[in-house]
Amino acid sequence: MTATETTGFPRFPRGFFFGAATASYQIEGAFDEGGRGPSIWDTYCREPGRVADGATGDVACDHYHRYREDVALLRDLGVDSYRFSIAWPRVQPRGSGKANAEGLDFYDRLVDELLASGIAPAATLYHWDLPQALEDRGGWRVRETAERFAEYTRLVVDRLGDRVPRWITLNEPFCSAFVGYAIGRHAPGAREGRGALAAAHHLLVGHGLAVRALREAGATDVGITLNPDRLLPATQSPADLAAVRRAETLHNDVWLDPLFAGRYPRNEADTWGEMADGSYREEGDLELIGAPLDFVGINYYRPITIAAAPHQEEDPAARTAVDIRVRETWREDVRHTTMGWPVVPHTFTDLLVDLKGRYPELPPVVITENGSAEDDTVAEDGQVHDADRVDYLRDHLHALAAAIEAGVDVRGYYVWSLMDNFEWAFGYAKRFGIVRVDYDTLQRLPKDSYRWYRDLLTDHRQAHA
Ligand code: FCB
Repeated sequence: MTATETTGFPRFPRGFFFGAATASYQIEGAFDEGGRGPSIWDTYCREPGRVADGATGDVACDHYHRYREDVALLRDLGVDSYRFSIAWPRVQPRGSGKANAEGLDFYDRLVDELLASGIAPAATLYHWDLPQALEDRGGWRVRETAERFAEYTRLVVDRLGDRVPRWITLNEPFCSAFVGYAIGRHAPGAREGRGALAAAHHLLVGHGLAVRALREAGATDVGITLNPDRLLPATQSPADLAAVRRAETLHNDVWLDPLFAGRYPRNEADTWGEMADGSYREEGDLELIGAPLDFVGINYYRPITIAAAPHQEEDPAARTAVDIRVRETWREDVRHTTMGWPVVPHTFTDLLVDLKGRYPELPPVVITENGSAEDDTVAEDGQVHDADRVDYLRDHLHALAAAIEAGVDVRGYYVWSLMDNFEWAFGYAKRFGIVRVDYDTLQRLPKDSYRWYRDLLTDHRQAHA
């Protein structure tokens, strides 16, 4: 690539679509309005020491009340599509039973507002806010939650299916299962072995049942969002290479193998030993999980460098599902975002090309999240000149264009995120938005990256006019 190509806008094929993404708990607020019930994140945020500065999503960006203003920002940005998530506890405050009409009404208004602005809604059904009532009955450790998820999906698609063209069942089940039930850095904050592996499986079963419900309702653009990782060995030593294999099982194969290769991961015994006893699996699950999809959503932010490490837990009974004798190592050679994530754009190309090679049955790809948290400040001229974020987005979009050039079928891209929001355990300390949110006044302020992205979209349209 020449220098001018990498500093200019990347080129995408005709029909390629652009969007912006958010998630319910991170932006909505209004935690006790409209009949919404408590989610596991409401509970988790109230446990001392869990979330930075004791932050909660009680108010967040107040999107529940300001959604019209936010849709106007999307319209001015010129996106083709908006990816948002539906809060299950708004639809079923206690996780089961008939729908709470007021909860569905909110999404009904949002969808109509988007359509009136010429923006295609893309709804994620589960972006981590499980109704607390279901966690009380075992959460994703138990199969019943997968069945409840299908019921909830039916309620949503019955109401919105006539106007929402694109559906995503789950967002990053890796995080739900392993960050939630093994690392304990996400709700419900558990540190378990077999429980986390059971959760991983039940999330996939829930996905399969939800796909079935969506198909029965006539949905034709259905996918799941995964966060496959680009895992790099710290050295070429046999120990580090074996560590990468185990990390591949945990981060990637658990999801990709059942979804796109009709099998459970081959390396699971080496990774987990007895913990992976498969007792949570039933006959027919693989067929259910592997039902054909219209696309796979990929969230990508950064590569992870892996080295071998001893078990963290002395007591084998206390081992969690993430204690697989690996550790993440730091890279000296590249810039890191404020998340501490290394910026290595070509790994985005490599990941996609590699996935396509390893899974011939992979459906078309949609990038459902990509973006960076930076130390944004409001300058004296009243603007946010987030040059690092612009660089990040430009370089990653070039890397994405390179993957398409190399033959990967990628249909669209959503930037994370439309606006600064509640970044889970980091509270409001990490800003991913292309629009700044002032958390005192809740005012929205488009950053330089917002204008850059708008210009990219204009350039794309003109190129294909
Ligand atoms: C992803 C999540 C999203 C956001 C980004 C930064 O793992 O799906 O909600 O927090 O990371």
